[in-house]
Amino acid sequence: MNRTADAPIGVFDSGVGGLTVLRQLRAVLPNEQFVYLGDTARLPYGTKTPASVQRYSLQAAQRLLSEGVKYVVIACNTASTFALPSLTEALAPVPVIGVVEPGAEAACRATRSGRIAVLATEGTVQGGAYHRAIGRIRADAVITAQVCTVFVALAEEGWTDGEVVEAVARRYLDPVFEADPGIDTLLLGCTHFPVLSLALHAVAPAGVAVVDSAVTTAHAVHADLENRGLLAPRAGGSVRLLATDGVERFARVGARFLGEAVSPQQVDLVDITQPSG
Ligand code: DGL
Repeated sequence: MNRTADAPIGVFDSGVGGLTVLRQLRAVLPNEQFVYLGDTARLPYGTKTPASVQRYSLQAAQRLLSEGVKYVVIACNTASTFALPSLTEALAPVPVIGVVEPGAEAACRATRSGRIAVLATEGTVQGGAYHRAIGRIRADAVITAQVCTVFVALAEEGWTDGEVVEAVARRYLDPVFEADPGIDTLLLGCTHFPVLSLALHAVAPAGVAVVDSAVTTAHAVHADLENRGLLAPRAGGSVRLLATDGVERFARVGARFLGEAVSPQQVDLVDITQPSG
């Protein structure tokens, strides 16, 4: 298996959400080749048990390893919450990074009051990874966690703004700000949520920062690759897209997340439940 600096970087998520991370990775690391896998057949991960998320994540990561990747980015908060330690062990010596630590860093940088609301899937909230990660950076932070399951469906449907999205956002956010009006930062603890930013800004009180983990993750990957001497040695960045179901839908909805056109011909259908070559 190729583990040289020339090898691609593997990125995975339950669906198109992780493309928000890939977009920033491409901006920060334009010379890298990326292989992105969306496990659309089994989305959502956010309502599954930790054991299922760990199993799915391992299968996704193993599929990326079979592509010869030099590095794996878990572009899913739920998978980062439940599977980062097990994947780090299973994939060694290939390094693995999750999005929770970078997301916590982004929130701690943005907040002035130290009062942060984490919007995430049920799994991520129950797993408590953000409480731990934010607590390590800023012990006095006051964290409110809000499960926002419906946001995943809205994002996957491509409904990113307008009345319905704002009504759902209000339903989730009103109780959060009623309980703690001092919150000054919303941390999007799910990689599907950045496409809903406009609606969240419209519903949140003025001046509240809306941050996500994509940019900080991209910078963390850059720094880590550099430290390990694994940065791509020459120009020629590229993206290969894999999905476990519905390539046409993946391309159509994914374009909005990636920020560029995606044709169904660019997406390969893969079965990651079977070991691949
Ligand atoms: N995008 C994923 C995350 O960051 C989860 C969405 C889902 O599959 O529930 O948590």
